[in-house]
Amino acid sequence: MTDVHHTALVAGEPLRLNDGTVIPALGLGTFGFKGDRGVGIVSRALASGYRLLDTAVGYDTEAEVGRAIRESGVPREEIFVTTKIRRPGHGYDAARRSVRASLDRLGLDRVDLYLIHWPNPRLGLYVDTWRALVDARSDGEVRSIGVSNFNADHLERIIDATGEVPAINQIELHPHFPQEQARALHRRLGIRTQSWSPLGLGGRATLAAEPVADAARRHGATPAQVVLRWHQQLGCLPIPRSSDPERQRENLQLGRLRLDEDELRAITSLGHSGGRLWGGDPETEER
Ligand SMILES: NC(=O)c1ccc[n+]([C@@H]2O[C@H](COP(=O)([O-])OP(=O)(O)OC[C@H]3O[C@@H](n4cnc5c(N)ncnc54)[C@H](OP(=O)(O)O)[C@@H]3O)[C@@H](O)[C@H]2O)c1
Repeated sequence: MTDVHHTALVAGEPLRLNDGTVIPALGLGTFGFKGDRGVGIVSRALASGYRLLDTAVGYDTEAEVGRAIRESGVPREEIFVTTKIRRPGHGYDAARRSVRASLDRLGLDRVDLYLIHWPNPRLGLYVDTWRALVDARSDGEVRSIGVSNFNADHLERIIDATGEVPAINQIELHPHFPQEQARALHRRLGIRTQSWSPLGLGGRATLAAEPVADAARRHGATPAQVVLRWHQQLGCLPIPRSSDPERQRENLQLGRLRLDEDELRAITSLGHSGGRLWGGDPETEER
């Protein structure tokens, strides 16, 4: 049995994106994993079986992720690397440069998924940025392209302008902000939803919430495992971040845990319109 199979069994079956690319069902967030410490954290995650690493120009962790991959001994083709363009990289030419600079920092010939991190609507360049990603994919610099924090209007604009539907929209999604409308729209458009801050930043508000704690008790699982499986059963791809090897394994090894419809509904009902963790509204956020 290869590592990929092993990972698939514990974290959930890999999924196929609208462009045919296969993506692991769960990944590691790398925000803040800087320097030698950061390389060590990512290396331990790879050794535990993580095969999707989520970085970004804005996190400044691309070099760390690249080094951990090279030092891991895991074949490059078994690892799925996501990175994201930030505000100064918007616009056609800047975005093409941003992709090449990411490849340099990562030390890779190609990245698996490149996202526009935020639409930055006041800057107003996300359509040109999207065209650049379409061309970067044609030129073989990236395998799949997608967006992050795009709402319905932003998605409509890039799809109307180019005919290209993003493979992924990575959005804030956790039990207090379950994004029902966005998920329904993504389903209609064939876009896969990826969940950022999937554990609600690991806070008690999420992990000690009654429906989560109840389900954890019933299934003999941890609250984090219940929340991560909730994401997957909604059809979403969570990318939990942990610097701790034990919690990394806990988050990956979801085993046969399966929530029933009542449990799923009870967790989703924690959602409310003010549920964002820190107010990251794509309409107003510029980063
Ligand atoms: N596209 C975007 O705009 C965007 C925005 C935010 C984040 N992201 C991505 O999403 C990733 C994940 O989101 P996030 O880092 O904001 O939040 P998160 O994954 O929801 O939570 C991370 C926090 O939870 C703790 N934790 C992890 N596993 C745990 C467990 N099993 N039990 C208890 N606590 C646990 C971690 O602490 P320990 O390290 O001590 O385990 C850490 O403090 C980021 O790293 C980044 O890659 C993207």
